[in-house]
Amino acid sequence: MCGIVGYVGGRGAQKILVDGLQRLEYRGYDSAGIVTLGGGATLLREKGKVVELEKLVSEHETPDKIGIGHTRWATHGEPSQQNAHPHQAGDIYLVHNGIIENYKELKQELPDHEFTSDTDSEVLAALIDSFYDNETSLESAVTQALQLVEGTYGIAVLSTREDDKIVVARSGSPLIIGVGQDETIIASDASALVGHTTNAIYLNDGEIAVCKAGSVELTDLASHPLSAKVEKIEADMSAIQKQGYDHFLLKEIMEQPITLQSTLNGRVIKAEARAQLGGLNMSAEELQEIEHVVIIGCGTAYYAGMLASYYLEQLVDGLTVDVEIASEMRYRSFHLPKDTVALVVSQSGETADTLACLREVKARGVKTLGVINAVGSTIAREVDGGVYVHAGPEISVASTKAFTSQVAAMTIFAIQLAQAKGAGAQELGKYIDELAAMPDEIQKVLEAHKDQIRDVATKYAHYEHALFLGRDTLFPVALEGALKLKEISYIHAEGYAGGELKHGPLALVDDRFFEVMLLQENALLDKSLSNLAEMNARGGHVIAITNSDRQIDAEAVIHIDTKQELLVPIVLNVVQQLFAYYVAVARGNDVDQPRNLAKSVTVE
Ligand code: AGP
Ligand code: GLU
Repeated sequence: MCGIVGYVGGRGAQKILVDGLQRLEYRGYDSAGIVTLGGGATLLREKGKVVELEKLVSEHETPDKIGIGHTRWATHGEPSQQNAHPHQAGDIYLVHNGIIENYKELKQELPDHEFTSDTDSEVLAALIDSFYDNETSLESAVTQALQLVEGTYGIAVLSTREDDKIVVARSGSPLIIGVGQDETIIASDASALVGHTTNAIYLNDGEIAVCKAGSVELTDLASHPLSAKVEKIEADMSAIQKQGYDHFLLKEIMEQPITLQSTLNGRVIKAEARAQLGGLNMSAEELQEIEHVVIIGCGTAYYAGMLASYYLEQLVDGLTVDVEIASEMRYRSFHLPKDTVALVVSQSGETADTLACLREVKARGVKTLGVINAVGSTIAREVDGGVYVHAGPEISVASTKAFTSQVAAMTIFAIQLAQAKGAGAQELGKYIDELAAMPDEIQKVLEAHKDQIRDVATKYAHYEHALFLGRDTLFPVALEGALKLKEISYIHAEGYAGGELKHGPLALVDDRFFEVMLLQENALLDKSLSNLAEMNARGGHVIAITNSDRQIDAEAVIHIDTKQELLVPIVLNVVQQLFAYYVAVARGNDVDQPRNLAKSVTVE
């Protein structure tokens, strides 16, 4: 979380920094700041969104050609101007992403510095300054300070004494160095580099770089020189713009037919009744040997894994599957059977909990495969193999298109595994056909039901509580529906397995609640309809979302006409996404940047 941007070159730094922060704003948005150097330092910080900072900058324009900026997601100290980055100590200015865990101990050793913020980050600035005497270079002071630090950081540091360089370092928080023509641009996320350069160096943990207009020098923490690998970044401007939509969230929901098609391209070959992922780095024999799959993720990625686990079980005879919340699993004394493969699921590829769990699993010798959206991200680089879901940049904090693509990618994995273990084309054919048809099916649903979903959502937007219920493959979808609603509408929402209703949550049903009941035309439909009747009998306010043609007795029914059978939960989830979106709009919320949250959670 938090966005970092830095610039050194021949152009005016302020505009590049503010533009970059605007693109990174979804990673943190409680305050923002920049500092530029040119003779002296111009430090500008403001509470609130980048647009507030932009106003301040327009009143203090400078022609400075070097600077750093930050958009914050507070961990230590409330969102305020004082706590906004950059932080100053002596001649040094620092922006920081992450948490300095031993900041209290370090602070006690720094009596000479007068602290003006409550942040852990200012302690790091002061620590660097304490090593920065007249004989010491900025990079050397940074290196010495970092030896003492516990926690996670991505930092960019400037000094008025050496005003031609930015020193950057990382441990656990992403940093990318864009290498342009006589200019260097630093960012915590590739989207800030788009339009400036397509050449980038991904900094690894434990590396420090000295960035100047025409050079980047890399070392490790022991000051040993390292060679930098320049890679191509692929992203275009249109992918990070709203393209006429009111919000990124709506754009990302509506573009799912296209983004899902990108996930499937070259991987689902309907004519040959075949589906396979390249990049797993596993032979057919190795696949054949897999006995157990553990799927790891957080939030929406975890729910995508949970839904995919049902398809893995359905498709692969004898396979056992676990789905784990990364932040829980990593601290447990977990045991994984021999011949396990771990699927590590993450949109951003930077989630600290997921990354830490990946490292735990790897340390036990388990083969790890990534299911990742952000190309070049840390998790993608650390797994043994895997798949990019190719959903394109997801800017809205609430994850939507990534979920759909993650489930599709893991379903392809399930088919591939089943194929390797000898399943015939006939058994797999239905899944392959449904996957191939899914983009069109989603398109149809979006076109046919958008207005109806908006009307229903507007009607229920004033409630303060909601229950989402579904059985079997619709259970993870219920959990995801509740998460989506709560994070953007701030309505208290819970997801439950339909069968659990009578074991407790039924007590909640009253006029303050509405209930979303997910109903799929399958063998469990009658059971779910009984649950629905139980709610109706207690005065429930039920919205049914279903593909069943049966007469359904609910306050509102969103009936989806789809040819999907097995994969219908993915389609019903798209309905829920739009529902949550329109509820949030009706409540006047900041849909793309919901309160207290940020995209890409790089702290634990
Ligand atoms: C989803 O809407 C959330 N904002 C959040 O739960 C997210 O899915 C989670 O933080 C995991 O992120 P990742 O996929 O980037 O790892
Ligand atoms: N821990 C720092 C702070 O609270 C950095 C937070 C961030 O990554 O935005 O200011």
